[in-house]
This record gives sequence, structure tokens and C-alpha cells, in this order.
Amino acid sequence: MKVSESGYTKEQLLEIVDTYLYETARRWDFIEERGDGMYVYAENGDRYLDFFGGIAVNSTGNCNKRVAEAIAGQCKDVIHASNYAYTLPMILLAKKICETIGMEKIVFQNSGTEANEAMIKIARKYGVDHYGKEHYHIVTAKNSFHGRTYGALSATGQPDSACQEGFQPMLPGFSYAEFNNLEDFKRKCTKDTAAIMVEPVQGEGGVYPATKEFLQGLRDYCDETGILLLYDEVQTGWGRTGDIMAFMSYGVKPDAVSMAKAIGGGMPIGAMCTSAKIAKTFGAGAHGSTFAANPVCCAAALAEIDEIMEQHLSENAKEVGAYFMEQLKILPCVREIRGRGLLVGVEFEEPIAFAVKHQCVENRLLITAVRDNIIRMAPPLIATKEHVDEAVVLLKKSVQEVLCSEAE
Ligand SMILES: Cc1ncc(COP(=O)(O)O)c(C=O)c1O
Repeated sequence: MKVSESGYTKEQLLEIVDTYLYETARRWDFIEERGDGMYVYAENGDRYLDFFGGIAVNSTGNCNKRVAEAIAGQCKDVIHASNYAYTLPMILLAKKICETIGMEKIVFQNSGTEANEAMIKIARKYGVDHYGKEHYHIVTAKNSFHGRTYGALSATGQPDSACQEGFQPMLPGFSYAEFNNLEDFKRKCTKDTAAIMVEPVQGEGGVYPATKEFLQGLRDYCDETGILLLYDEVQTGWGRTGDIMAFMSYGVKPDAVSMAKAIGGGMPIGAMCTSAKIAKTFGAGAHGSTFAANPVCCAAALAEIDEIMEQHLSENAKEVGAYFMEQLKILPCVREIRGRGLLVGVEFEEPIAFAVKHQCVENRLLITAVRDNIIRMAPPLIATKEHVDEAVVLLKKSVQEVLCSEAE
């Protein structure tokens, strides 16, 4: 839909926003009208370089043609089917995901937070079914982010943040340990611990990659104790960190893994994969969702995954991500550059991240800030070194402008 064809001016549309829309996010002041590969276009034709990817979603580029055609094609056949129906996209996608990432069973959901709800629920039920009714506790990482529904929010190790403030009490049964600190995780586990749940790279928390030793240590500890190891790969999955799933590049397999964001090529779909043994925990009626495995979303996901695999986008993420992190060293005021593949964070010495993000938008570059002093970039995985060069010039300009205005 185009603003020019809507019968409203941009100003009138923003008045409608003020009147009717919950402002649950600090939105940009343009109306995104069109996407094309690495760029998005505002209503006035302004072009923005996308190093944000719709929050790590548009991995094959904005408005990928193959994904768009898959969506349009499926819409001619079945748009929605009930929980009781099989559809071809659902069946083929289940096979593709499980075989590609080496897991045995999948349950579809509609989003990342729901994929995590499924993972939390199955871990609790598995614990209770096998070890008794108190065996439902889950240890997650401090500074983690798992979503905004109550289970996933309770798993999120950020008790003082805006996402939890005012929503207490959280669900019982969660405790939080230091990320990348194996001993702290072991200390927080008790005889009633059913699962440990971590992100292989903490994204919203500030782009902190796990160490291989940490994940391997968790795996060994879980194997010794019978605790389940759960990975939240909602942000890191499907090519983002330089392998299909981040756990594949670490070589440390979980008992269950959640995913969303990139798999749908922009359509709302999430999923949880497990071993066949764990999957028996969910019998008919134990878990479900009206819209999950929606055929249009599954068709989009099939196209998105084919595109990621055939265009070798995880390999591209690895190579271009390494180049990006190298080029970022020319930015002023940098304390640390972190990341894995094309999930990249810059920590500044000063709390300038939100101002930098704002200035980047002024300079036609889309990024996000996740802490006062940390920005995060998650461009489409089709980004080239030339796009990185373009982004780094705009970023440097933006940081310099922020520092200058603060000095005035
Ligand atoms: C690691 C992680 N888990 C879960 C979520 C929640 O996903 P959704 O917003 O699709 O519910 C996010 C969203 O940013 C995320 O980064």
C-alpha cells in the first residue's frame, strides 16, 4: 500500500497513529513503504540502508522475490487450515527443518516467544512426568531475553528492565545465573531443576556470544544430571551467526531448540525442535495454537530456507560479518566490538547508543540500540562488503555528529 494512494497525507496518518496506536516501541518518523534487498524506502522516496533486518528477520533481503512468490502462490490454494488438517507446506517444512538441523521432531508456533513457551512447557512437563511434581525448575541466564509472554518473560533474566517492571509476579520456578559462567549455572541447579535454557549469543542483552567451553560444559553437566539443555535460537537461527544454527557452529547440540524470526522470510512463524524421546511429552491436546503451521507462513519458510541454503547465506554471514567487525574498529569512542556472523554489537565508552541510533536514521542507516551504550546490527544476510563499507561510513559520521553535539 502506498501513502500517495491512501487518501491521507503523511501528517494525517501520523495523527491517526497518535490517536489510535499503542506506542509500545520508539518508532522511526517515516512510513516504511517499500523494501528491496538491502534497502527500505520511506513514503517520500528516501532510501535507508538496512542494517537492522526488521530485527534479524529479513535475512534473504527485504521483500525477497522467491518468498513473495511462495506467499502469493500459497494464497491461491489454502490460506488457513485448522489444527486438525495436514497441509503440504506444513509437512514439507517439518521435514526440511528437522533434516537440515539434525533434530527429530518439530512443533510449529507463531512467534519467538511462543516457541519458547512451547520449550518451557515441554521441559516442565517432561521433568514432572519423569521425576515428580516439583521437578519443573529452569535456570536461565542473567541478561537473557526470551520474549514477552509470561513463561518466556519469566525466563528472561532481566528483573529490573522495562519489559518486566510492573508485570510481577513472574511465574515461579525460574532462577538466573551468570552467562558464560558454568560454575554459577551448576550452583543455581537443584535436585528439582528440569532444564537449563540459554541463547548461544545473547542478542537483546547486548550481543554477547557464548564461549564453546561454556556450552560444552553445560552439555556435559546436563548429560551427567539428566537436566535438559534448551537453546533459544530465535535470533541466532537460520544463518545469522555463520552456520545454519548457532549450535551447529559450536558443535554442541541441545535437547530442544526454539526458532522464529528468520525462518518465515517476514511471515510470523516460530517452531521448537526436539529429540523424538522428548516429543512424546506432548500428546494430543497438551499444546496447540489456532494459527500455528499456517500454510502461507510455512510456504514462505520453505522458500526462505531454500534461499538461505542455495545462496550460501550462512557462509556469507561468516565472511562479511568478520569483515564488518574489522571495519568497525575505525569508529571513535568504542569500548568493545562483539558478535558472531552478522549479529554484531558495538559497546561505546559513553552512553550514546540511543543518540547514535537516532543519528543513523537521520543519515539513512537503520540500526538499533539495545543498551545505553550498545548498538546492535543484524543486516540481511545478503549484505556484501560494499554494503558494510557504506554502513561504516554512515555509522562513523553518526557517532562523530553525536559526540560533537554532546561536546557543544
Ligand atoms: C532470543 C530471543 N528470544 C525470543 C524473542 C521473542 O521473539 P518474538 O518477538 O518473535 O516473540 C526474541 C525477540 O527479539 C529474541 O531475540
